[in-house]
Amino acid sequence: MRRSRRPFRVIPAAVASILVIAGGAQTPVNPWASSSWQPPSGYTGPVFKLSYDYPAHPVPPPANPPWIQALGGKPISADNALAYVQAVKEYISDDMRVLTLDYPHWNDRPRKWYNVPWLFSIRDPIRGTYVGFSQDPSVFPLSNMKKKVMTDYVFVYYNDVAGYTLGQLWGKTALNPDLTKAQFQDGAIIIKAALTDATPADWSPLEGAATWELYPPVIPPVGDPTAPTKIVTTRFFQFDIIVKDTKTAPATGWVFSTLVYDKNVQGDAWKRMVPLGAMWGNDPDLNSIVTPNTALKENVINPMAPLYSVETLGYGGRLSGPNDGAVSENNIINGQLVPRARISSCMSCHGVAEWPLKSSLVPAVSSTANNPPDPTDTYSYVPAPGSVEFNNWFQDRPGNMPQDTGAVALDYDMNIALKALPFWQQYTSSAANRATFLSQVPQELHRHVLHPAQTSTTGKLLRQPE
Ligand code: HEC
Repeated sequence: MRRSRRPFRVIPAAVASILVIAGGAQTPVNPWASSSWQPPSGYTGPVFKLSYDYPAHPVPPPANPPWIQALGGKPISADNALAYVQAVKEYISDDMRVLTLDYPHWNDRPRKWYNVPWLFSIRDPIRGTYVGFSQDPSVFPLSNMKKKVMTDYVFVYYNDVAGYTLGQLWGKTALNPDLTKAQFQDGAIIIKAALTDATPADWSPLEGAATWELYPPVIPPVGDPTAPTKIVTTRFFQFDIIVKDTKTAPATGWVFSTLVYDKNVQGDAWKRMVPLGAMWGNDPDLNSIVTPNTALKENVINPMAPLYSVETLGYGGRLSGPNDGAVSENNIINGQLVPRARISSCMSCHGVAEWPLKSSLVPAVSSTANNPPDPTDTYSYVPAPGSVEFNNWFQDRPGNMPQDTGAVALDYDMNIALKALPFWQQYTSSAANRATFLSQVPQELHRHVLHPAQTSTTGKLLRQPE
């Protein structure tokens, strides 16, 4: 894997899997497998079990949800948005405390949190995480992150309201997803947690953070495939929570929020996850280049959030977290080298969730004339922030309206658009179908949607499938 400093140009190569279609002949594959490899020998701790017993019937949202109550009868704004986030956090706290702080008891709960299928070739067998991102110290100059390459691991869970939609989308077999059923109902809550392999010695904001032990794949060529595998200790530093709430957010249907670890807060490690902010739209009416000092109306940032978490805010201060890659490095903008630029936001990036993926996740120059080949893969060609082309990524659209014509919108869901569907496609369609599909997908996204094939160069299995 080449490590890049640019957001979303890096995806870990998946562990090679013998389940990949070989020479056109399909080998049976189980989409619901938890992980393609076993825990290390001698490991006796808890293991990850894919949760896919999705509700068969629509699950009504709570009658008077506490997050709507927290708005006090007013539209969401800077005055009440953080109270909204706090109320959602409280609502899921019982479950999330067990998940993050007491994993051995997670599996024996009557859990109503679900995962997507098809990710077995990247999911670690003891916690179900996979590599999300890698970042280097230049991303966090103010908080002095020292680890040369810090790797972030992530995992995603859907609540019962959202789980019903997953069941409709994937059906019993997960072989023929019905994309017309990918729209979530009000009350859907989806969480994504991010853990880092940096230690407090590498990055002091992590002192006292909750830890998890993971058993990730060895990723060639960075890792030596023959090297002994090992358990990695990681720390929670970001916890996203998004809520489908068309009442509060009629333009987009969602309130996106994220919690970040703050070592200075009293209480257990879950209590110390504090809101970084919330957004329910991209503020398309505010051009942050023309009027940089005008306060955003659909984005709220917690003024008390720890320093490291605001280093990576998005375009014009729109919400984005330390694990999200809204800050892009080594950009060419209008022919000039711009070392660091804020070019994304939670909902800007998630707004591209569509099938097939026809736009890159962060704004990218579309014309090849201005985008000369870059064999070293060092630069991003970014349209000028605030320009019409750039602003395509900063609209407010309902979740059933795709960013690009000819694509099906997936209601802001990236776990499905960038992970589950590409794996499904890879495992179930012929080489010719995949080629047709890829011809529609921007070149720079090919590495995202080609995982298993990328790694089959040696044909060698690194770990045995389940
Ligand atoms: C530059 C792109 C980008 C930005 C910015 C971004 N995300 Fe994501 N997000 C992703 C991708 C890609 C995934 C899929 C993760 C996976 O499965 O590997 C994802 C997954 C998620 C999920 C799981 C559900 C889903 O849609 O897949 C949640 C929840 C989430 N992000 C919330 C947020 C929040 C909140 C923010 C801002 C604080 C944010 N994201 C910023 C790209 C982004």
